[in-house]
Amino acid sequence: MNYKRNIIITGGAGFIGNHVVRLFVNKYPDYKIINLDKLTYAGNLANLKDIEDKPNYKFVKMDICDFEGVYKLMQDEHVDGIIHLAAESHVDRSIKDPFTFAQTNVMGTLSMLQAAKLYWESLPEKWEGKRFYHISTDEVYGALELTDPQGIEPPFTTKASSGKHHLAYGSKFFTEDLKYQPHSPYSAAKASSDHFVRAFHDTYGMPTIVTNCSNNYGPYQFPEKLIPLFINNIRHRKPLPVYGKGENVRDWLYVEDHARAIDLIFHKGKVAETYNIGGFNEWKNIDIIKVVINTVDRLLGRKEGEDMDLITFVTDRAGHDMRYAIDSTKLQKELGWEPSLQFEEGIEKTVKWYLDNQAWMDNVTSGDYQRYYEEMYKGR
Ligand code: NAD
Ligand code: TYD
Repeated sequence: MNYKRNIIITGGAGFIGNHVVRLFVNKYPDYKIINLDKLTYAGNLANLKDIEDKPNYKFVKMDICDFEGVYKLMQDEHVDGIIHLAAESHVDRSIKDPFTFAQTNVMGTLSMLQAAKLYWESLPEKWEGKRFYHISTDEVYGALELTDPQGIEPPFTTKASSGKHHLAYGSKFFTEDLKYQPHSPYSAAKASSDHFVRAFHDTYGMPTIVTNCSNNYGPYQFPEKLIPLFINNIRHRKPLPVYGKGENVRDWLYVEDHARAIDLIFHKGKVAETYNIGGFNEWKNIDIIKVVINTVDRLLGRKEGEDMDLITFVTDRAGHDMRYAIDSTKLQKELGWEPSLQFEEGIEKTVKWYLDNQAWMDNVTSGDYQRYYEEMYKGR
């Protein structure tokens, strides 16, 4: 069958990637969706069981750093769109092993760009109808302060463009024009990859787009990240390692809302633009942890809050960014995107999903990962 579009989604077996693959495979039966993933510790094909037999879906196990393999795949599949999510994504791992982050996030992105450039430039129509969409993070902007410089005590109430009010822990936000100030090896590598993507537009004319999103939460997130790790620990009554005082602030977005934004921007976003994606939904870690504890306890039929004593304050993460807060006004105004879920609904759905899918959780927390995980928290 001739498909209307042939799109590679890299990192489709990971947390955000599987939601993007699922959305595209189901919504666009006339597109061929090729999931290119190396299946690192974070990639799990079980995340895609429900769509793996669809005729317009294909999985290819490949490293994005394999330039020749990627180039050949693009030729064989007549690829005209790339949605690039594959990356090493966990800050704590980047602190222990920065080389892997530079290799995958920087060299891997460069390999994807160069393969696309050579293939698309070889076609008679060249860039026409092509798109290289790079998924990045708000962490490239660095960290915001927790209190307003004028001394007003947080939380502030700020009006989102949607007209809804939301709480903010400072008066500054990440906007698209802000200079990059990454702090962790993870965000430094992502920042570098963003620069390469823009350089391929500015130098060669490649039709690129970059988006920077806030912290995602939802089903299928690897349980090294705060929310799934803590849900699982609460269930098993294991300590909850809260870094520092738990005062750090993150802006949380339900993963399916991110996937919807990616769909919209892939189709309607302007070439060479950057869009910030966020939920206008800031939470201090300690507050979110309390919500998660109450929700798990309630859904397991325990007394709400009875597991609060699992909270264990541990040594802070090195270089721990204090606050992330995305201003997604541009995306809301220009493309009409809005988060669909209130945080309370999103967290309820998320906790319920992890509790209902214990087999998935057991599968990923066993074996090698478990040993890595024990090593990581040894001595804490
Ligand atoms: P994840 O760690 O859950 O998944 C990453 C996926 O990439 C895995 O399937 C892994 O196997 C694959 N991968 C890793 N190295 C690869 C390589 N060399 N070749 C091919 N595949 C490889 O990550 P995630 O949380 O789904 O994040 C996806 C993207 O979104 C990343 O680029 C990340 O920087 C960005 N992002 C994540 C968040 C978040 O909150 N999780 C927020 C903003 C942006
Ligand atoms: P994480 O989920 O690793 O995402 P990111 O570092 O990309 O924001 O962490 C979210 C926040 O939770 C961050 O401020 C670090 C904190 N955190 C803990 O306090 N304990 C933990 O065990 C983890 C994994 C994170």
